Amino acid sequence: SHVETFDYVVFGATGDLTMRKLLPALYHRFRDGQIPADSRIIGTARSKLSHDEFRERAEKALGRFVKGDALDAETARRFLGMVFYASVNGAEADSTWPNLLELFGDDRQDKIRVFYLATSPGLYGAICQNLSDKGLVTDRSRVVLEKPIGHDLASARKVNDDVGKVFPENRVFRIDHYLGKETVQNLIALRFANPVFERLWSADAIDHVQITAAETVGVEGRGDYYDHSGALRDMIQNHLLQVMCLVAMEPPGTLGADDVRNEKLKVLRALKPIRPADVDHVAVRGQYGRGRTGDGIVPAYLEELGEGRQSNTETYVALRAEVHTWRWGKVPFFLRSGKRLPAKVSEVVIQFRETPWSIFPSQLQANRLILRLQPEEGIQLSIMNKDPAMDSMALRPANIDVAFEKAFSTRYPDAYERLLMDTVRGDPVLFMRRDEVEAAWTWVEPILDSWRERPDTLRHYSAGTWGPDQARHLLGSNRQWHEDM
Ligand code: BG6
Repeated sequence: SHVETFDYVVFGATGDLTMRKLLPALYHRFRDGQIPADSRIIGTARSKLSHDEFRERAEKALGRFVKGDALDAETARRFLGMVFYASVNGAEADSTWPNLLELFGDDRQDKIRVFYLATSPGLYGAICQNLSDKGLVTDRSRVVLEKPIGHDLASARKVNDDVGKVFPENRVFRIDHYLGKETVQNLIALRFANPVFERLWSADAIDHVQITAAETVGVEGRGDYYDHSGALRDMIQNHLLQVMCLVAMEPPGTLGADDVRNEKLKVLRALKPIRPADVDHVAVRGQYGRGRTGDGIVPAYLEELGEGRQSNTETYVALRAEVHTWRWGKVPFFLRSGKRLPAKVSEVVIQFRETPWSIFPSQLQANRLILRLQPEEGIQLSIMNKDPAMDSMALRPANIDVAFEKAFSTRYPDAYERLLMDTVRGDPVLFMRRDEVEAAWTWVEPILDSWRERPDTLRHYSAGTWGPDQARHLLGSNRQWHEDM
């Protein structure tokens, strides 16, 4: 729905994220009539660009990243009229700030201001301090922090402390775009509006859970960021743990931001801590080598990084987690994510237990519920059926299958659309609270420490395969990753 007039100031505005995600998302919502035309989107970065030069880049980005017939010239023209640019060295208190300040000259103090930080997280504290010193932060200002929030627990705390000196927690929006995905939010609906599932949602009926985010792309042009990060920091510490929280949490009292986030935090804090001696039993990491994919032969990670580069950074992670609560007991949650895998797919697999006894001649396959987050969003429940081609009680599995696109015939908005509007509305329910981020770092840190000291634990896999063999052993002998997609 419609929001109040706002100023959206993006730091790091010449970067990929602004062009690929932020501008297209705001465009869509403008086109849907949700953004008042006297709002402004102000890009800032160090490059010296005029408003028009930045608008040209924005226009190109819309051309590339707004899909289908959503892009029309007249709407784009009006949208670009809201776009401005200021060359600012955000982390320095230097003479570039007047470029931004002049845009706020005689501005109403009561207008909503959102400061979106998409720079390196090491600069977040300094940018906030400068915003405050220059008088740009009002009671109606918010700050949005892109991931990664820090590089480990200590640096995350430092970022949170520094930002917290300027913005109170309820005006800090730590974005995790997985939470903006429709299908991720639908987990809450599936669980708490459908007792048929929730009654079975525990160790009594569930054997294990798999959460997968597989990508076919390599590191593309992002080597400098990625090599410093790796799959555990890039995908697991945030996106996959957040999805796991929604799968594992207790029903919140209400849908209010603190009720939901309190329940997620309890899950993170109930994770079985990983001792250094356990790391090899619960975590597998890999790096892709050259291999054959749908696009033909693709280069190894090291080749993508550039001539002569060495690196122990993982492009694949598989983990075994346990949520030590009454509901979950020792049910394993297997999380995995990797680049250059055979399919682009994110999904949650709830693997139910086997029947205690079988009266049938055929092998029974235990029920499996698959929540497909992307692409081809939907829900599948596998059930055993009598094979109609046979007189005997031979059984065969088949699926109860809901394809959301067919069921609802609607456009699936990009995750950023909803999240950016939430920052304007001031609703933090889909953003990570400080304690959640820090609890997630606390849990992954022993793995990071161990891997840093033990380069020999890095496995290799060929591009276009499902990761290193060791990931299969992680599941144990009678469980399998869901891979037939
Ligand atoms: C980002 C990671 O947060 O998520 C990227 O930095 C990754 O490395 C991306 O490619 C995946 O997002 P999605 O929405 O395509 O699953």
